[in-house]
Amino acid sequence: MKTSCLLVVNVIVCFFLVGSVISNDYKTFNKLSLPPTVTGPESAAFDLAGEGPYVTVAVSDGRILKWKGPVIGFVDFAYTSPTRTKELCDGTNDLVLGPICGRPVALSFNYRTSDLYITDAFFGLLVVGFNGGLATQISGGYKYLSGIDVESYTGNVYMTDASLTYDIRNMSQPGFKPDSTGRLLKYNPRTQRVVVLISGLAGVGGPAVSSDRKYVLVPEYANKKIQRYWLQGPKHSTNEVFMTGIGSPKNIKRAANDQEFWVAVEKQAQGLRVNGSAMVLQTVPLTKFVNKGVAVVQEMNDALFVGSSHADFVGVYTN
Ligand SMILES: *[C@@H]1O[C@H](CO)[C@@H](O)[C@H](O)[C@H]1NC(C)=O
Ligand SMILES: *[C@@H]1O[C@H](CO)[C@@H](O)[C@H](O)[C@H]1NC(C)=O
Repeated sequence: MKTSCLLVVNVIVCFFLVGSVISNDYKTFNKLSLPPTVTGPESAAFDLAGEGPYVTVAVSDGRILKWKGPVIGFVDFAYTSPTRTKELCDGTNDLVLGPICGRPVALSFNYRTSDLYITDAFFGLLVVGFNGGLATQISGGYKYLSGIDVESYTGNVYMTDASLTYDIRNMSQPGFKPDSTGRLLKYNPRTQRVVVLISGLAGVGGPAVSSDRKYVLVPEYANKKIQRYWLQGPKHSTNEVFMTGIGSPKNIKRAANDQEFWVAVEKQAQGLRVNGSAMVLQTVPLTKFVNKGVAVVQEMNDALFVGSSHADFVGVYTN
């Protein structure tokens, strides 16, 4: 009896050692500070030249800012609302101003054209050229467009619509629980049409297309799940549960390693590196975000750039 118990214990210990690799990498931490009173960088995109990060900010500031290095800091790059003024909107935390100032949420570059695609909670899908300025609306009429990933080879834009019922002002209330009307959408730039790929998602975050363009991963933070939507192969145009049991995934980004991803796990303040077999290859505790939550983990040049709705900086973890 005693031996079998020990055997069971051994099996459990081995399982944890293999299944959850707590990483000792990324121990050095630096902050890229936002301008005074500006908070909530929920995205961290880099352009083709590796410049950035470009960030969206809360609550109703409406600007997309670009990091220009430690001497200059963040500068204005683009905005989404034609009615935005710097006097009214710069640094504002007033939710009511959202429809006037704009609320860019997520960013993704098309690396073939150098255009920056933007989802905005009030203005839908927009695009701006590499010189920035006022973005052009491509598709509107949503309650709360949230995540985005541009697949640069075809130019197709994968984006998520957080709800058919609630907008970002409802979802910003403390304790709010998203309903199950979130969707994964695709915008095709050749036909200029938007199609629904998945509906019925609860608390949908930022999607990521695999580097071989075979599937899209879609986080559902309210359901604590990641869905996989197949773009090619025998299961194309269907979706299945890809992963559960990892807390609340908010955004997924492609990792530097081919066919791997970084999952930002919001409340647990972790970055998980996962592969296409749903294997967690690395778990990075993002300790500076423990009380803030993590919105995005973006890998660039051996560093992890970490954004949060409740921080006044972008965190940079390096070795
Ligand atoms: C969502 O928020 C908006 C703006 O504050 C408000 O007008 C609307 O009534 C809210 N909707 C629901 C269903 O709570
Ligand atoms: C994911 O990682 C596991 C463990 O290293 C490996 O066995 C598996 O083949 C990998 N899957 C893919 C799709 O690379």
